[in-house]
Amino acid sequence: MRVLVIDDEKNICTAIQGILEDEGYQCSYRLSFEDGFKALQEEQFDVVFLDVWLPDKDGSEGLREIKRNMPELEVVMISGHSKIENAVDSIRWGAYDFLEKPLSLERIVTIVMRIQEKLKILEDLRESKFNLLKKYNLIGASRLLRNLKKKIEKVSPSNAWILIYGENGSGKEHAARLIHMLSKRAEAPFVEINCSSVPLEIIEGELFGCEKAETQKIGKIELANGGTLMLDEIGDLEQQMQAKLLKVLEGGLFTRVGGVENIRSDFRLISTTSKNLEVEVSSGSFREDLYYRINVIPIEIPPLRERPEDIPLLAMHFLEETCFENALTRKVITPELMQLLVRFKWPGNVRQLRHVVERLAVLSETETLSIGDLPDYFSHEDSAANEIPIESLDMHSPLKDARDEFEKQYIIKALTAANWNVSKASRLLDIERSYLHKKMKNYNLEKPTQ
Ligand SMILES: Nc1ncnc2c1ncn2[C@@H]1O[C@H](COP(=O)(O)OP(=O)(O)OP(=O)(O)O)[C@@H](O)[C@H]1O
Ligand SMILES: [Mg+2]
Repeated sequence: MRVLVIDDEKNICTAIQGILEDEGYQCSYRLSFEDGFKALQEEQFDVVFLDVWLPDKDGSEGLREIKRNMPELEVVMISGHSKIENAVDSIRWGAYDFLEKPLSLERIVTIVMRIQEKLKILEDLRESKFNLLKKYNLIGASRLLRNLKKKIEKVSPSNAWILIYGENGSGKEHAARLIHMLSKRAEAPFVEINCSSVPLEIIEGELFGCEKAETQKIGKIELANGGTLMLDEIGDLEQQMQAKLLKVLEGGLFTRVGGVENIRSDFRLISTTSKNLEVEVSSGSFREDLYYRINVIPIEIPPLRERPEDIPLLAMHFLEETCFENALTRKVITPELMQLLVRFKWPGNVRQLRHVVERLAVLSETETLSIGDLPDYFSHEDSAANEIPIESLDMHSPLKDARDEFEKQYIIKALTAANWNVSKASRLLDIERSYLHKKMKNYNLEKPTQ
């Protein structure tokens, strides 16, 4: 913190300088506005104490000149002949405070301390915003990803509702957070709710809040007021909740569970889904009217295997990040390993790649990561097995059946490798355990009895 005092009374200057230096601040002074202004331009100051009556400038004019040129600088006015109008005027022109002579030196120290705290908070805010933007930057340079970025940049500032669809782990939430950060609502909350992991009885209270005799709980819709509401895996929402949600989306009004008051919340909706909602609509499990409501701007996140050019950039990014976070020396990936990573089909998409790289970085004892460091399940043959031999496919099946068949086989493979330990297999596949359970149920997969 550096402080400058501009006052034509030298004893005032030295008194302020003395007390502030005692407190550990750097402080200099100038006896005229011209000299003071020159010092401000040449050196870096955080706070100025400015006399209202200076021989070469009227203080309030000086204040405006400083604020025009250095809007971030905090100016505290000091005056011997104070009138309340002067004080009000100064504050209006952006002064931090207005002090009367004789000065209370204690007050001066408190003011400087308060300004220091304010600057620290601003600095932290700026830093966290920068870090967040960096965190949710989309890494990748493929044509598909560049198009995605362009689209996100274009739609983010508007208030339009967005439906993001993409496979598990492809980056739907990552994209949703980026959209929020690039929107005008960036300073307001980003609130998410996962529609598939919350049981029906609870989701209603979670979304709308509840009002019972002894408890009041604010729901996510209300919390998102002014900001963004992300409904994750909206395709998994039960029919009953679909109807309730539709009503809110149409009218903007809702009531807490057990409450009577109509509540309004202004949120931007971003829904995500890994299901094809059009299929869900035609099979009758997702309401068509709700689908049209939420799908104002559709955004597709392509699966990682369709944009292999992004893999090296992502892998290097995750490697650097892991090494930094774990205080490891920088590591590199051998060209052979990188080739293998690029060829792999990544059924768990970017999340799976991230986890594989993290594991490699933490477990490998050398600074070069090579094929030998890969876990067993990820051997050469495995990656080749990812590509189902095309001749084995019956070309009369619809794409969906072929995909399901592949998924089933792949899950069996992971379960076998994990000795039918579901937690372990879900880690190998990089999917949630509950999601694996669901898939196992769908495909009727059970541990074979010996
Ligand atoms: N383009 C990208 N650049 C950097 N990191 C990414 C990118 N895409 C995804 N990630 C990272 O990959 C991981 C998975 O992404 P995310 O959670 O957004 O996927 P998702 O599609 O929401 O997954 P799920 O379907 O399981 O909910 C996160 O750690 C995310 O930060
Ligand atoms: Mg997600």
